[in-house]
Amino acid sequence: QTPQTLYEAIGGEPTFRRIVSRFYQEVAADEVLRPIYPEEDLGPAEERLRLFLMQYWGGPQTYSEQRGHPRLRMRHAPFSIGPIERDAWLRCMRIAVDEEGIAEPYRQRLWDYLEMAAHSMMNSWV
Ligand code: HEM
Repeated sequence: QTPQTLYEAIGGEPTFRRIVSRFYQEVAADEVLRPIYPEEDLGPAEERLRLFLMQYWGGPQTYSEQRGHPRLRMRHAPFSIGPIERDAWLRCMRIAVDEEGIAEPYRQRLWDYLEMAAHSMMNSWV
């Protein structure tokens, strides 16, 4: 019997779909973040983040089938991400995660990871 993944514990794909969709709704209205996204259509970016998070937490490995190794720091190198951008990203994500009402200890595990990941994506200190 394999231990349950966080992906399964919080409800699988529909949960990730709601969180990431809510996150991008905030991004679309955020004056710091919106200009950073190169595409007019945020839909493809939304799908990539959803598939990445699903894979990270033990769901299907579709992200890597489509995009290869994540190399997230490298993929963010074209964008200037300093404390302001990091905080804006976390603010949008916080709204999305909080609205989902995930049970502990899963909510805390997910949030700790997202905070750590957002800090690690910084490549500018202004
Ligand atoms: C892609 C911004 C943090 C995961 C992107 C893109 C931008 C961006 C502009 C390109 C959009 C696109 O795919 O078309 C930011 C900013 C962050 C941040 C400003 C602030 C800290 C994070 C974090 C994660 C993440 C913490 C993961 C937990 C991804 C993924 C992609 C992506 C998976 C798509 C990569 C690919 O396959 O090409 N991000 N990001 N990002 N971001 Fe972020």
